[in-house]
Amino acid sequence: MNSLQFQDPAIFSAIKRETERQNHNFELIASENFASKAVMEAMGTTLTNKYAEGYPGKRYYGGCEVVDEIEDLARERAKRLYGADWVNVQPHSGATANAAIYLSFMKPGETLLGLDLAHGGHLTHGSPVNFSGIIYHPEFYGVEEATGRIDMNKVREKALKVRPKMISIGASAYPRDFDYAAFRDIANEVGAFLWMDMAHTAGLIAAGVLNDPLPYCDVISTTTHKTLRGPRGGMILIGKDKENSLGYIAPKSGRTKLWSEVLDTSVFPGTQGGPLMHVIAAKAVAFEEALKPSFTDYQKQVIRNASALADVFKEKGYKLVSDGTENHLILVDLRSKGLTGKIAEEALDRASITVNKNMVPFDTESPFVTSGIRIGVPAMTTRGFSEEEFRRVAELIDRVLMSPDNEEIIDMVRGDVRALCNEFPLYESSIAG
Ligand SMILES: Cc1ncc(COP(=O)(O)O)c(C=O)c1O
Repeated sequence: MNSLQFQDPAIFSAIKRETERQNHNFELIASENFASKAVMEAMGTTLTNKYAEGYPGKRYYGGCEVVDEIEDLARERAKRLYGADWVNVQPHSGATANAAIYLSFMKPGETLLGLDLAHGGHLTHGSPVNFSGIIYHPEFYGVEEATGRIDMNKVREKALKVRPKMISIGASAYPRDFDYAAFRDIANEVGAFLWMDMAHTAGLIAAGVLNDPLPYCDVISTTTHKTLRGPRGGMILIGKDKENSLGYIAPKSGRTKLWSEVLDTSVFPGTQGGPLMHVIAAKAVAFEEALKPSFTDYQKQVIRNASALADVFKEKGYKLVSDGTENHLILVDLRSKGLTGKIAEEALDRASITVNKNMVPFDTESPFVTSGIRIGVPAMTTRGFSEEEFRRVAELIDRVLMSPDNEEIIDMVRGDVRALCNEFPLYESSIAG
């Protein structure tokens, strides 16, 4: 990494400061993780130079024999990890994976039924400011105010009313697991495609600690950088490939295409150009890591840590959406403590504790203020924290939230955060590359 240091000291020093920040913060953003050194090494390679539009064996450029091998390895490992018939590892991100799914299964103006963003859903599930809500017609289901959980009877009622072409499952801030069989029944009843966006929970699902969507959903998308702990990127999977008999992208030849073929076309050339081969190599490295028993142990620890965190918050009188968690995150409703998400996020930031403000269901504050914070455990679990450390994390967060304007307390907490981080070293090299 000497060349970067000498050629571009400004960027080198910024990366160094970011590494330092990651080394000495509690990283509690639920969608973040710490990729391994091997994953990061694969990204910083000559593969970034290669154009490889198309798919292995069918490229539009010469010189693809090595990258073909890499993409095949990534696909084969991902298929093994999830027991999938087919995968596409080219999506640059979760959002572009989702764009390819819309292009495959929906025509402009058709209806998607998805989880409301304000109840934990994602922008790409029909938000009016996203392509999904601009090009398609979004309808939403939500969680119940009393329980914070999705009521499948209500989802069914809504689906019967709006007759969606596709139903999406998956969330950015929902602390519970999904009943895929019930969603499947509803999709069958109304004749809709069923899509699971497992961006947040892909690692937990791979390890078998959450329900498996593959047997129930027509198509599954994911990011690769959250609980799956790979490089920043996306992926699409199919559990059991089928003929695209509903013909949403009309077959050009006389033959009816498979869904996998339609989806491949929707990724390239439908929504993307050349694949990021350095990132695909890093995905392959991450999938191999995820196939190891140690990855299952890690995901089990994630579940235990989130649960320990939830217990301490509840003991201290905080209200949690859905009263707890079954996955990697908790959603704290701060209204009873007289705080907003914005105040909490900013005070915690000053104490080197990184969380994000988050809308809670039926929030009366704007998305810029919010009444909640979302706290996730995947990154600090990678770092080695177990239940004991997470109980300490909850106590330190509580100390800040009890006195968000008291800079003396915040300074003391920051010292404690640094000390605990030092007990669990993260990246040794100054820019970890
Ligand atoms: C459920 C869900 N889907 C899609 C995405 C989008 O992923 P990306 O940021 O890689 O585009 C996210 C990101 O947070 C997400 O939580």
